[in-house]
Amino acid sequence: MERFLKYINSIPFQLTVKHYYPLKRNLDSKESWDILRRSHPHFSISEDRGEWLEAAEGKVKKDGQDGGFIQRAREITELIDKLGIKSVFSVGVGGAGLEYQIKKAKPELKLICSEYSPVAVERLKKVFVEADSIVPFDMREDSWQKFYAVDLVLMYRIDIELTNNDFLRMFQKMHEGGIKNILFIICGRLTLRGLLNRFYQRFWWKIGGTNYAFAGYLRTIATFPPFWKNLYTGKELDFGGLKGFLLRKTDSNVS
Ligand SMILES: C[S@@+](CC[C@H](N)C(=O)[O-])C[C@H]1O[C@@H](n2cnc3c(N)ncnc32)[C@H](O)[C@@H]1O
Repeated sequence: MERFLKYINSIPFQLTVKHYYPLKRNLDSKESWDILRRSHPHFSISEDRGEWLEAAEGKVKKDGQDGGFIQRAREITELIDKLGIKSVFSVGVGGAGLEYQIKKAKPELKLICSEYSPVAVERLKKVFVEADSIVPFDMREDSWQKFYAVDLVLMYRIDIELTNNDFLRMFQKMHEGGIKNILFIICGRLTLRGLLNRFYQRFWWKIGGTNYAFAGYLRTIATFPPFWKNLYTGKELDFGGLKGFLLRKTDSNVS
């Protein structure tokens, strides 16, 4: 019975729903992220190294992070070691707390961090001095070819930002650009309980006059694999309570 209820709760089919958050404006462009990064303490990236480290060490919560990201970084580092990965290109890093923890555990790893928000790039350059480089990169628009030699692309909690069509186009472009390995960790899977909670929450926001706005997409686990079908083979993994997939290019010879 318990297994059956878990199965039902997982919503075992493809489903994408819009996600809303108490914000003044929709979060759907780099400009909207820049405004949020400048104005909202929960999403700000400090230019002060000490303050930034407090967030990167999990003492202050940012960007809807759960407390598990330090343990998650350890698990990612173990996987990196197991696979013999020497270089990582991480996209949409935000405040880069996870990436800081990975670099701290493995200083010899070549770590390139990227963001499409100019505010995030400019601020991280000042505070994340351990990163090998911090570059502007739009995962939807930019060419992946430049990064074909990187051993692993890390995509951590960026799924919420893209439409289903964006995903299909992006994985195609990554495959064409020669990206061999991808570690894709999702923000949070959509479950039946989560869906009902969201309806309930929005009802109370409406009743209470709380402003809320569009902040991306949430998906069931079954929604993801079709995005990379015939391009990458995916292995489902768990990283400190968040679901992820290790994707290997289907025609790649890498170990
Ligand atoms: C939910 S936040 C996650 C940030 C960070 N990875 C974390 O887990 O704390 C999503 C991030 O993706 C970035 N982003 C959104 N669309 C993007 C795009 N097309 N290309 C690159 N980054 C993008 C946003 O600027 C934001 O920092």
